[in-house]
Formats: sequence, structure tokens, C-alpha cells
Amino acid sequence: MSDFLRRHVRTHHCAALTAADIDSEIVLMGWVATRRDHGGLIFVDLRDREGLTQIVLNPEIDPKAHELAKHLRTEYAMGVKGVVQRRPAGMENPKLATGEIEIAVNEFEVFSRAATPPFLIEDEVDAGEDVRLRHRYLDLRRPSLQRNLKLRHTVMQAARQYLSEQGFLEVETPFLTKSTPEGARDYLIPARLSPGQFYALPQSPQIFKQLLMVAGFDRYFQIVRCFRDEDLRADRQPEFTQIDIEMSFVTRDQVIAAMEQLIATLWRAGVEVELELPLPQLSYREAIDRYGLDAPDVRFDLELIDVGSVFKETEFKVFRQVLEKGGQIKAINVKGADLSRKDIDVLTELVGIYGAKGLAWIKVAGESEWTSPIVKFFSEGEKAQLKETAGLEVGDLIFFVADKTKVVHEALGHLRKELGRRLNLISEGQNRFVWITDFPLFEYEETEKRFMAVHHLLTAPHPDDIAGLESDPRQVRSLAYDLVLNGHEIGGGSIRIHDTALQKKMFEILQIPPEEAAAKFDFLLEGLKYGAPPHGGIAFGLDRVIMLMVGAESIREVIAFPKTQKASDLMCGAPSLVDSVQLKELGLQVRKT
Ligand code: AMO
Ligand code: AMP
Repeated sequence: MSDFLRRHVRTHHCAALTAADIDSEIVLMGWVATRRDHGGLIFVDLRDREGLTQIVLNPEIDPKAHELAKHLRTEYAMGVKGVVQRRPAGMENPKLATGEIEIAVNEFEVFSRAATPPFLIEDEVDAGEDVRLRHRYLDLRRPSLQRNLKLRHTVMQAARQYLSEQGFLEVETPFLTKSTPEGARDYLIPARLSPGQFYALPQSPQIFKQLLMVAGFDRYFQIVRCFRDEDLRADRQPEFTQIDIEMSFVTRDQVIAAMEQLIATLWRAGVEVELELPLPQLSYREAIDRYGLDAPDVRFDLELIDVGSVFKETEFKVFRQVLEKGGQIKAINVKGADLSRKDIDVLTELVGIYGAKGLAWIKVAGESEWTSPIVKFFSEGEKAQLKETAGLEVGDLIFFVADKTKVVHEALGHLRKELGRRLNLISEGQNRFVWITDFPLFEYEETEKRFMAVHHLLTAPHPDDIAGLESDPRQVRSLAYDLVLNGHEIGGGSIRIHDTALQKKMFEILQIPPEEAAAKFDFLLEGLKYGAPPHGGIAFGLDRVIMLMVGAESIREVIAFPKTQKASDLMCGAPSLVDSVQLKELGLQVRKT
């Protein structure tokens, strides 16, 4: 055991000392962030979780310590005892909390030396993400990651405290379980004691939390890991954390109101921002019509304009045929946009990803000077009408997509997002929340030729639309809601079906055979038979919430040990091959591919 640790107790962390502490004897522990040898004096920035303190070794005060300090290198872990002194005039650093002072060291001990790190531990790191993930424990020493994880802690504690005060009980639910209804691919775990059988890791605690309502717990929450084997993106990880919530005897509006209070509490605790409540709401229909996407970024306008009526009788074949087949033509008018042909080519490729067959455009160069590959097909009447409908003015650039309704919205929705980014339409620091409500209950899956649940199959239909379950399921809205922030879905939930007959009807419409429904969900259906209370809830994606609070580009920046795009953990090397003995025990055999 270290002699230093036995004799000295840490008195402060490395961001604590100020001019008020001058002349105090202090003890600090931390890591060498930098060492500067100025011939005579040696300066070391000592770093811990909270910040930096400059320590000075002066050969005239303590020649032995000064000599030893010559061997200090970055990332050594050490303890320091010394006296706080004012920095000489002109040497203060106003950017540091401890910038007015430094420590005149009279004793230190290196607890452990460090190999040369594979990258510099600083926020402006230029090392690739792979090498940082491989040495995540070093990456995590960077101040920004320390800050992110501290904020995450603060927000989790605030959620726990607020929800407990509101009468929610935190109840844990199993990880070794069965398929849940969210509809991504499951992670499976072979069951040694039942060879050939598997557990599924939960995509969410959905069914358990509903059964907790049946069990009478009234209000539940859990900060819980969920597992989904799906394609990863910047805001998606295979395991992620939800603040999961369920409430009994509530309406949709009551759930929304209660959850706004939670969100306001989290923003206050995390980033000291006071949200204005109630948060705005948009129906799904309106979100799609105006923004093209169900998670719209409402920080900027550029709304979609329906120009179908302008082209009802057009000579332009592409547009006419789309309208004849029941499709739509929508446009985005980019006011005063300065985009080159090359930019337009890139944007055309972008809409192609979403199935658009082209991206028509018009540049309004002058009052009657329209540059465009398609305007030659338009009549004077159409031009005048278009000018009116789209509010065209000199300097505008208008884009069109004509296609099936779904393609038009997805293509223009993503084009709109990209234009927002490219044209810098988003001013920093805005928090634009919006609830999306009145989702359709079902979506018709063209390839499989059947209905799928838009939220999940336990979501209740809108009471005004129940009749449509028999006559026209496409028209039925649900009692689902999402909370969207700056174009990211940060939470989603619904009022549930608490009636077995209605739940069975859902399985019928979704063409889930009774055997399959029974095999997957019979315990839920059985549970619903015994006096299920009306109930509903929501789950917030904690990682996304923190990502947006800190303004990070990816949720990897707010997760201690995240996985790569290929769902691997580069540090511990998971996934990995396993022993043949282990496989045998599990009754498994790996097929050579
Ligand atoms: P849903 O599937 O909408 O609902 O998930 C809720 C929220 O979790 C976040 N989220 C993710 N975050 C990171 N990586 C992922 N792969 C990922 N997938 C989802 C999103 C999302 O809004 N059981 C229902 C909730 C309910 O009905 O109460 C559910 O899981 O922010
Ligand atoms: P074309 O007649 O195929 O040469 O197309 C003329 C212009 O219309 C090009 O700029 C195409 O990008 C555009 N275009 C073609 N199909 C569509 C469509 N479905 N929606 C919008 N623009 C289209």
C-alpha cells in the first residue's frame, strides 16, 4: 500500500481550489494531464473527474521533489501535497475554475506510471473512433465524456426522485424472457437447462409493465436496459436505456401532462433550462403533410407544399401519370437558396434513397426567367398558379417530388432535413419539442400484403374510430403518442388495450394466427382476464435525451461502453467465438458458412 495514501487524505478535488484557499495545506489526487519543464520550474496540470489544478515544483523549495518530477509523464496517477498560492500576476487562466491559483508542492507520490497512451487525452482529439473505443477507459478520461456521464447521472437521479415523489414505484423486470411486441429482431440466449430452447432479451419491459398494472401497482417506472438487434445509426444502439413508465386509470391527456412535468424536471436538473408547458402537439397527419416525417424537426420552416391542384391537366407526363395513379406532387420552396447544379445532383441522389424517381426543380432567376429542366412542359396558366400556390419570388429555388404519397413524404421529409442542415437554418441551442398524436393504428405492408401495428399491437384504438376496425382498418387512429425533440423521437407510448376481446380482434386484423398469439402472448391475454385496469404509459430513450441535452452527434458520446456500427464492443472484443465445451453444454453446433 502506498505510503502517501496511508499518511494523507484527499482534501479537495481538482476543480475546487480558488483564491479563497490561498495558504491552505491541501492534498489532491489525479492524473498528469500535461507537464511543462521550464528549466527551473516544472508545471504539472493535475486532472481528475472534476477538472484541473496547476501544480508547481520549484528546485529552490524542494530540490529532491523537483528532481523526481522530471520523470513525470502524462497519465501517471499521483497524489500531491502542497500549499495553495496565488499565481504570479499575468499568469492567471480565466478559463479554469482554479485559474487564479497553483499548488506549491512539498510532497508527491506516483501511484502508477502510464504507458504512452495511443492518443492524447483531450477534447480536440483527432484519433479515430476505433482506437478510442478500443481504449475506452482512456477515451473516458476526456473532460467532455466525463461531463456527459456526470450529466447522465444527474438526469437519472432527477428522474428517480421526481417519479418516486409522484408515487411511481421502481420495479425490476426480467432480462431472460420471451419476445416482446416492439417488432425489431430479438437477441436470443440459449437455455442450458432446456436444450434447443431460447430466452429472448427484452426489447422493452412492455408486457411486464402492463401485468404490473394488472397486479395493482398503479404507477410503475424503471430505468432499464433494452435490447434490439437492428441496424444501427447515430441515435441507435443494440442495447440502450429507457425511462420506462406505466400508469393505471388514466387518459391519454393525463399521461401526456404527467410526462411533460417529468421532462421539464429533467431539463431543469440536467441543463438548467426552464421549458414552457404545455408542449405543442401535432397530429400524425399534420406532421406528415407539413414536414413529411413523423419525427419532424420544427426548428425551421421549409414546409411541404401540395402542388397537385396546379398540375391536374398538365402536359408534363411524369406529373400527370403520378396524379392519375392517385399519387401526389409536393414541393419545397427554398427561399433565396444558393445551390449549384452539383448540389442539386447530390440532393437528387438523397431523395433516390427514399424511392423518389427524380427531383424536379425550378430556379426563379428573374420575374419571367425560370431555369429548370421541366418548365418547358408547363403552360402559362400552370406557371401563374404555381407562383401563387408556392409563393414563388425572384431568388427562390423550388424542388418537386411526384410519386406515391409515402415516397413523396419520405423523400421530401429527408430533403427538408438536409436543406435545414446545409443552409444553416437551425440556430444553436433551440429545444423544439412536439408531441405527435393520433397515429394510425395500422400500416399496410405492401410486400407482405398485411397490416402491421404502427406502435405495437397492445396499443388501443382511438375510441372515435372503433367501428372502422371492421370496415376500414386503414382509417383507424390509435391512442399512441411520441415525443419528438429537434427531429429525434425521444419517447413513445400509448394507452393500452385492457380488454381481451379487443386484443383478440387486433390479432385477427394483424393476421397473427391464434396459435402464434397464444404462444407469444397468452400470459398477457390471460392476465387481462382478471380485472385489468385501464392503463397506459410511455418509454423515453435516455441515451437520446442526454445526447440532445449535451448537443452530441451520436449516442455513443453519452454511453460509457458503446458498441460500433457493427454492434461490436472493440474494447472487450464482443461478440466472440466460444469454447466447443460451452456449445456442447448448450446443445448448439455452429454451422460453417
Ligand atoms: P419504443 O419502441 O418507441 O417504445 O421505444 C421508446 C424510446 O426508446 C428509444 N429507442 C432507442 N434508443 C436508442 N437505441 C435504440 N435502438 C432505440 N430504440 C428505441 C427512442 C424511443 O422513443 N414499450 C414501448 C413504450 C411504450 O409503449 O410504453 C417502447 O419500447 O427514444
Ligand atoms: P425526365 O423527363 O425523366 O428527364 O425528367 C425531367 C426532370 O424531372 C428531371 O429533373 C427529373 O429529376 C425530374 N423527375 C423525374 N421523375 C420525377 C418524379 N417522380 N418526381 C419529381 N421529379 C421527377
